[in-house]
Formats: sequence, C-alpha cells, structure tokens
Amino acid sequence: MTVGLRDIETRADCERLVRAFYGRALEDPTIGFIFTDVAKLDLEAHVPRIASFWETILLGARTYGGGAFRPHAELHMKIGLRGGHFAVWLNLWNATVDERFAGERAELAKSHARRVALAFMRRLEGLPSPETHAPAGVVVTRHRGTITPSG
Ligand code: HEM
Ligand code: HEM
Repeated sequence: MTVGLRDIETRADCERLVRAFYGRALEDPTIGFIFTDVAKLDLEAHVPRIASFWETILLGARTYGGGAFRPHAELHMKIGLRGGHFAVWLNLWNATVDERFAGERAELAKSHARRVALAFMRRLEGLPSPETHAPAGVVVTRHRGTITPSG
C-alpha cells in the first residue's frame, strides 16, 4: 500500500499523468525515437487527445472518439512495432502511474493499458511491416535501442 498518494480523480490528473509519461517516453533509449523521429509528435496537440482517452476510460467521460489503433498501424508499417517496444511502453506507464497515484482508477489505468497493448500487438501481427520477413530470433538494432522481437 502506497502512503500519501490519492487516486486519479479529474481530467487534470489524467493530463498530468500523460505529461509525466511522455516526459519519460520521449527520453527512452528504446522507444523515444518513435515519438520524436518517426511520428514527430506535436506534444501540445497530442496530450489533450490522450488525456481524453484516459478520461473516457477512467472517469466515464465521453471525450475520446475512438480510433486509437490506426496511428499504431501506421507506425508499425514504417518501423515494425514489436513486443519489446510494448513492454517498455507498459513499464514506463506503470511506473508513472505508481509514482503519482494509488487506488482503483490507478489500477484500472495499468490494467487497461495492458489490455490495449495486447490487443494492438495481436492486430499488428496480421499487418505487413519492414521486418515481416526477418528470421525468428534475430536481434534488431535501430537508432539508440536494441530489442529482441518476441512474436
Ligand atoms: C470502464 C470500462 C471501459 C471503458 C470506458 C473502456 C474504454 C475503451 C476505449 C475508449 C478504448 C479505445 C477504443 C478505440 O480507440 O477505438 C478501449 C480499448 C480497448 N479496451 Fe476498453 N474500456 C473499458 C473496459 C474494458 C474491459 C473490461 C476490457 C477487457 C476485459 C477492455 C478491453 C479493451 C481492449 C482489448 C481494447 C483495445 C481494442 C483494440 O483497439 O483492439 N476494456 N477501451
Ligand atoms: C510501442 C508502444 C507504443 C508506441 C511507440 C506508441 C506511439 C504512439 C504515437 C507516436 C502516437 C501518435 C500518432 C500521431 O498522432 O502521429 C500514438 C497515439 C496514441 N496512442 Fe500510442 N503508442 C504505443 C502504445 C500505446 C498503448 C499501449 C496505448 C493505450 C493504452 C496507446 C494509446 C494511444 C492513443 C489513445 C493515441 C491517440 C490516437 C488518436 O489520435 O486518437 N498507445 N501512439
């Protein structure tokens, strides 16, 4: 039990959480380049959308319209998103949630992220990517990170 942390309660909480997450994700040696170099993410445009996504899931708002999968399919076709990328993403997300919040919604933020990540990975398996024909077990090095494809 974490002492002194409260649960996620407002949209502002969702936004703070998302900003803290991107603060880490953009710097990450394995997935940072996907945001900065591949997607060339405009954080100020992106943060409100992701905050709406989480506000919809955690607080029952209807501010997110759906269609979360599509941008990931596009990234996948450019660089091949692998299990290793999602594992790093989830670790950063879980660590950011745990550092700031505790409670039922904080738990839901982690469990739902995991479900979505698994669903995305399953859906991406059926799509072509630059490494569709790479031999199993090969280690792929890109930019600053090294990952082992796990599926
Ligand atoms: C509090 C209730 C829930 C809300 C408000 C909610 C909301 C959402 C939203 C907004 C998305 C994104 C959809 C899109 O972008 O098209 C999503 C995706 C998803 N949710 Fe939930 N969710 C809830 C509970 C659950 C539960 C209980 C499960 C599974 C047991 C679940 C599994 C998933 C999966 C697998 C996806 C990804 C689907 C895909 O794009 O392939 N969700 N959810
Ligand atoms: C390897 C892991 C992931 C990477 C590298 C990644 C990267 C990205 C990038 C670059 C975008 C922005 C695309 C654009 O607007 O140009 C995006 C959008 C988004 N991502 Fe991810 N993502 C990952 C996993 C996830 C997971 C697990 C979730 C859900 C829990 C998620 C939820 C979203 C949502 C909701 C959007 C906004 C889509 C929209 O514009 O409506 N992502 N992601």
